[in-house]
Amino acid sequence: MKIISVVGARPNFMKIAPFIRAIEAYNRENKPGIGHILVHTGQHYDDRMNRAFFEALDIPDADINLGIGSGSHAEQVGQTMIAFEKVLQKQKPDWVVVVGDVNATCACSITAKKELVRLAHIEAGLRSRDMSMPEEINRLVTDRLADLLLTPDRLSGENLRNEGVPEERICFVGNIMIDTLEAQRGKAEGLGLGSVIEGHLHKDGNQKAEDGRRKTEDRGQRTEIRDEGFAVMTMHRPSNVDFPDVLGALVDFLCDEVCGEMPLVWPIHPRTEGNLKKFGLWEKVAGTKNMVLLNPVGYHEMLRLNMAARVMLTDSGGLQEECCVLGTPCLTLRWNTERPVTLKEHGGASVLVGNEIARLKKAFRETLKEERRPVRPELWDGRTAGRCLEAIVSADNS
Ligand code: UD1
Repeated sequence: MKIISVVGARPNFMKIAPFIRAIEAYNRENKPGIGHILVHTGQHYDDRMNRAFFEALDIPDADINLGIGSGSHAEQVGQTMIAFEKVLQKQKPDWVVVVGDVNATCACSITAKKELVRLAHIEAGLRSRDMSMPEEINRLVTDRLADLLLTPDRLSGENLRNEGVPEERICFVGNIMIDTLEAQRGKAEGLGLGSVIEGHLHKDGNQKAEDGRRKTEDRGQRTEIRDEGFAVMTMHRPSNVDFPDVLGALVDFLCDEVCGEMPLVWPIHPRTEGNLKKFGLWEKVAGTKNMVLLNPVGYHEMLRLNMAARVMLTDSGGLQEECCVLGTPCLTLRWNTERPVTLKEHGGASVLVGNEIARLKKAFRETLKEERRPVRPELWDGRTAGRCLEAIVSADNS
């Protein structure tokens, strides 16, 4: 059997790493083994969003890089399809395996099915029911086309059944990201908080303090980051960062409320940094006492921050899941989530707060009273990748 698996953007990398390990383990036990080709569409290309993750998670270099880069959605999806079609025609795989919900996932799914190649989707069945999210469109298209839908939780399976997906295509395997979390937890624990911060301080993000003259180094040392004594923040969704009034109100909340209470460590996504600068908000953020702006951090560094944070503020889906397993109280800066299993009403650690400031303030205050409470949804046990591969092998034989 020959498999092509696809990655494109940062959240894909922690999902593909355990799958590659599972193929390697299978090939040690079985002859003939599985032929595997890793294709990177090139959607994320900055070293800190890309190479750093390949190195940290020991992912082999992609066999083929399509070099797509940034662009509009149509540009990214269209160019990926054109390039990936050539790969499929040359390589003739039996299966294409896609993960998650980024543009690469959708583009390569369409191309695979048009080339009559069987398609497996890892992380199938997630639904936010918010069609303004590009990821929701990617999920719907991918799941409509996939031959094998590998789901992370039981709610996702229900979503697929409600959409009429035949039972024999659905396989509940658990959450593959948690395989990576469990494999890397020990290494993350070994990192010093101070060195994580100092190693990633944003060069022009920490220059101004109340005296207006303090240098980056001074800020890093002065803002004391202690276990359970700081907040962490990540934000990159267009709905939060693309509109000046929305982003401005969020910045006021972060600088006035959160930083008034405790240090806020904010590894900043390139899209968010660009918009803060464009909307004239960068000076305020960079100049606020207790605000610690970082460049995008690596996998272990983020895990270390998450393990030690008093509270997480995020619009990332993956972080909601990691907070659930680590027990970090999580304020999700969205009105909906495709991952309801991570919400408090389902036993998780996260509450939806959208981007309405009054609601955010209230939830933030309430969260400060909470304790860390780890929760492990069914089959989030660190062994999902093996079940994914087993399901593909079994579907290939049937
Ligand atoms: C993409 C995914 C999103 C995922 C996120 C994680 C889609 C639809 N979105 O969003 O689901 O949560 O990745 O980060 O696939 N840029 C760089 N360097 C890079 C990559 C991007 O500077 O290596 C900048 C470019 O200005 C680009 C912008 O970031 O235009 C946005 O990048 P893009 O890949 O379009 O989407 P993300 O917002 O990263």
